[in-house]
Amino acid sequence: MNMTIPAHGGTLINRFDRQAGYESLEKEIPMDAIALSDLELIAIGAYSPLTGFLKQQDYQSVVESIRLANGIVWSIPITLLIPDEIVSTLSIGEEAKLTFEGKTYGIIKVEDIYSPDKQIEAELVYGTKDPAHPGVNKLFSRPDRCVGGEITMIRRPEKGFADFHYDPKDTRRIFKQSGWKTIVGFQTRNPVHRAHEYIQKAALETVDGLFLNPLVGETKADDIPADVRMESYQALLENYYPGNRVFLAVFPAAMRYAGPREAIFHALVRKNYGCTHFIVGRDHAGVGNYYGTYDSQRIFSQFTVEELGIVPKFFEHSFYCLKCEGMASSKTCPHDEGEHVILSGTKVREMLRNGELPPATFSRKEVVEVLIKGLSQNSASA
Ligand code: ADX
Repeated sequence: MNMTIPAHGGTLINRFDRQAGYESLEKEIPMDAIALSDLELIAIGAYSPLTGFLKQQDYQSVVESIRLANGIVWSIPITLLIPDEIVSTLSIGEEAKLTFEGKTYGIIKVEDIYSPDKQIEAELVYGTKDPAHPGVNKLFSRPDRCVGGEITMIRRPEKGFADFHYDPKDTRRIFKQSGWKTIVGFQTRNPVHRAHEYIQKAALETVDGLFLNPLVGETKADDIPADVRMESYQALLENYYPGNRVFLAVFPAAMRYAGPREAIFHALVRKNYGCTHFIVGRDHAGVGNYYGTYDSQRIFSQFTVEELGIVPKFFEHSFYCLKCEGMASSKTCPHDEGEHVILSGTKVREMLRNGELPPATFSRKEVVEVLIKGLSQNSASA
């Protein structure tokens, strides 16, 4: 039998209803870009079992215990943050329009209004209160009050990468049609370099299919723009991956840079897309030196495989080794660091922006060509 994996919490949520009446609603809550992407991800079931923005009890429970109030594992608070002047117009029990740049995208039932403790959230979710951390900085710069309640989405945001937008119900169908029983998910906010390719293919050796699912929502300013990355993924897949074993689709979420907490979140969401396994490499979803190299792997030991419902596949720091003459990792290579080709993301971005080619041992030439072209066009139009 070809069964797809159950969604997190048991049911794949669908909160999308194009017919839902909203014109008569007077109250209006303007969303920022993160809230809009969260609204969509709730509506399409990527955030199952969430059916709306978190109410206070769930918020506190997620922040303090990495679980919803009902005990289901959930690691990142999905909150609708709004300013005081909007809160003062709302009453509990009523419905309000959810708007972005003047357009209505959904409806929320105002079930709860509260003030999140951002200091505690920063400490427990991000592991730091340092405003230099991009996720913490974002948290502090968003408004200070929360509205919790069920949502209905009535319109989808305009889509970049239209050919690569698939909802969880679609990816589940596609995996099934492909005859894949085991699927490993791969999260990335970067171009796929040789180390990424190595761990993806090592994982693919043990399962039926690879779901390459790059995050294309809000990222920090110096990350490589999503349109350039999307082109580079296609160049890579065309040249180095078997077409019948890989499926590429975008993950339209914002990046939180929350390291371990975000690794759990990324895994649960990919389970909702139909993955049975999820790759967690070195410093997954990390930034700077805020997290230890393997903290994002260690956090998985706090949960049973049954309660997560998706199996993590851990990989150690990978690189090209000149002595081995191939890709290897700290687990499989006996040679000195001096033999390893390791470039930081910052260094690579700097090289690309200067039109310098990172070595073929670091990145495939087809990928480098796309990146150099894309980045020079981006900086010319900036
Ligand atoms: S992330 O913020 O999306 O995690 P990135 O796109 O760099 O950043 O990483 C994607 C995945 O590849 C993550 O699971 C990360 O841990 C893993 N990864 C990145 N670089 C390496 C590497 N050199 N060795 C092993 N794993 C890596």
